[in-house]
Order: sequence, then structure tokens, then C-alpha cells
Amino acid sequence: MNKIKIGQVGLGRLGQIHATNIANHIKNAELYAVASVSPDELEYAKNELNVEHCYSSYTNMINNDMLDAVVIVSPSGFHEVQISQALDKGLHVFSEKPIGLELDNIKKLVSKLDNYSNQVFQLGFMRRFDDSYLYAKEAVERGDLGKITTMRCYGIDPSKGLDSFIKFAENSASGGIFLDMSIHDIDLIRWFTGKEFSSVYSLGNNLAAPQLSDCNELETGACLAELENGTIAYLLAGRNAQHGYHVETEIIGTKGMLRIGNSPEKNLVTLYDENGVVRPTSGHFPERFKIAFINEVTSFVDSIINKEQATITGFDGLKSTEVAIAMQESFDKKQVVHLVGELT
Ligand code: NAI
Repeated sequence: MNKIKIGQVGLGRLGQIHATNIANHIKNAELYAVASVSPDELEYAKNELNVEHCYSSYTNMINNDMLDAVVIVSPSGFHEVQISQALDKGLHVFSEKPIGLELDNIKKLVSKLDNYSNQVFQLGFMRRFDDSYLYAKEAVERGDLGKITTMRCYGIDPSKGLDSFIKFAENSASGGIFLDMSIHDIDLIRWFTGKEFSSVYSLGNNLAAPQLSDCNELETGACLAELENGTIAYLLAGRNAQHGYHVETEIIGTKGMLRIGNSPEKNLVTLYDENGVVRPTSGHFPERFKIAFINEVTSFVDSIINKEQATITGFDGLKSTEVAIAMQESFDKKQVVHLVGELT
């Protein structure tokens, strides 16, 4: 069987992980082409990953008729336009989250996706491909927890990445902490409960990094939300976890509760020494979700081969973005934002 020929745009922090995975770990795919605005990154792809077709322009890359699919790992502000261009070229599309930053444009894109049902579209919510989250999902689907009353989600990046985030924020737009980080938890809450958000109230501060206020960013952002059936959700995103990368999810139901990653362990080792009893912590997202990143693109390639649609859709992209934007609006206006009635 011919391998699916992938062209990837973006070879930064996450781009290099996806590119390495496609080149080395995804059996039925080939990293056929890459595009980046950085000559050093193109050199890296050519020398380290043996990519023959390296482009400084995305548009030129997708004009290569040999491509079957694109993987989009460019900054978030480019996603929606690059997805649309790839669809017009007849390509299957995997895009990193979020699907875009502007709601009106995302709505147009999601309507457009309906006309391209023979092309696979998948959004990069990799936590849905992590073994622990899948295990928890099965327990919830079996009814082990009964009805979900509450979810609590923490996503806190390690402190050692804070300085580089501040530099990034001074020059580029991430979309803000809710669109950039909480979006994973918004997606998990929608996935586990099968319900949409109805209202959100957000708070935030920059006590750990006052410089972020000058770039309209937050180091810590929190939100208390209600879903359409009354389920309560608490989401906390941050960029200053001293102990490592802290992603934790708690689901409380009428018959039981579960926690995923309540101490974000690196492995099964426990150290007993002069510091006491110590569990090493997972250091960053590439480590914690290493296998999930491989699994999600494997699933995308399998969907192309099997001619079936992906499970994470444009609609998921739209709904998660809608909630994240409402969370930002709530923080900006210091008031509850209601989503009911805006449900698409
Ligand atoms: P980054 O800033 O490290 O890399 C961006 C890349 O895009 C660079 O290779 C840059 O050269 C390239 N680029 C910039 N403008 C371009 C253009 N006009 N045409 C072609 N290439 C261009 O960013 P990072 O952290 O890798 O994030 C990329 C995307 O991945 C973001 O949308 C982010 O939200 C998402 N992401 C998702 C994560 C997850 O957990 N699923 C984790 C980290 C990032």
C-alpha cells in the first residue's frame, strides 16, 4: 500500500514533534514535504528527517500535486486560512488546536467543511488519544460514575517555560490563555459529558509574571462554568507549575468519582531519600502526551486509508473556540457570559 504523503507547515516547538513522529513512527505515512518561514527549521527537516521537499511558503507547498494531506502546526492565527486553502486543493487536513481565533471565520470554515465530506478533517485534541483519558472515558460510558455532576480541570505549564512564553507573548498572539490552554479542558468536558456549556465566569491574574499584563496575556486564568444540563465545571490554566507539567482532570458523578493525573507522575518510580518520599514529575507536554501525539496522527492517517471521517470534527473546533472566547470575554468584562441561544 502506498504511504499517505503528508506536507507539514510549522516546525517549531510542537511542529518538530509531529514531524519526527510522521517521519519515524507512523507506519502508513511519509513526511513528503515541509513548510516553514525559518531557514534553520527547513535545514533541520532536510538533514535530520531526510525531507526532500522543503518550502519557505505554505502556498507553494500545497501546490505540490503529489501531496495527499497536510498537518498544520503553524501559529494559531494561521490555522483557519491554511485549513481552507488545503481543502480547496483537495487535501485531507489535520490541524493543531485551536481551529482559528475569529468566530465568524470559523463558522464559515465549519460550513465549508460540510461540502468536503470526502476529505478527512481532524483537530489536534490529543488528550482524547491518551491511554488514561481513554480508560476514564470507557468508565464514564459504562456508567461507572453515574451522572456527571462536576468536572475540575487543571492545565498548568512548567515554570521553566515561563520566560520563553513571555518572549513569545511580546512578539506574537496565542489568542490568550483560554483559547491557547483551557481549550483542551473545554474539549474534554464536552467529550466526557456530551453536553454544551451554557455560562462561564472567568478570573485571572499575573502575580507570577506581571510583564504579561503588557501583552494582554494571563499567567493564571480560572473559570467556573455551567453546562446545559446543570453540570458544574471548574477550569484552571496556568504557566507557572514549579514541579513540572501539571495536567489533572477530576470527574465527580452520582455513583463515584475519578481523577486522571492527580499527581502528574513521570513514571512508576518512587524515590526514598533525604528529601522524603518523592515521585518524579512529568516535565512538559511532549513528555506527558508523547504517545497521544503519535496516536492522534496515526488515527488521522487511518481515517484517510479507511475513507471515514475523524472523530474530532470542525464542529468540536467551533464549539470549543466559542466557549474559550466567552471565557476571555467574561474575564475582560468581569461578568458572567451566557452561551445559551448562541449554540449552533
Ligand atoms: P512555534 O512558534 O514554536 O512554531 C511555529 C512554527 O510556525 C515555526 O516553525 C514557524 O517558523 C512557523 N511559521 C510561522 N509563521 C508561518 C507562516 N506564515 N507560514 C509557514 N510557517 C510559519 O509554535 P508552537 O508552540 O509549535 O505552536 C504551534 C501550534 O501548535 C499553535 O497553534 C499551538 O496552539 C499548537 N500547540 C498545541 C499543543 C497541544 O498540546 N496540542 C502544544 C503546543 C502548541
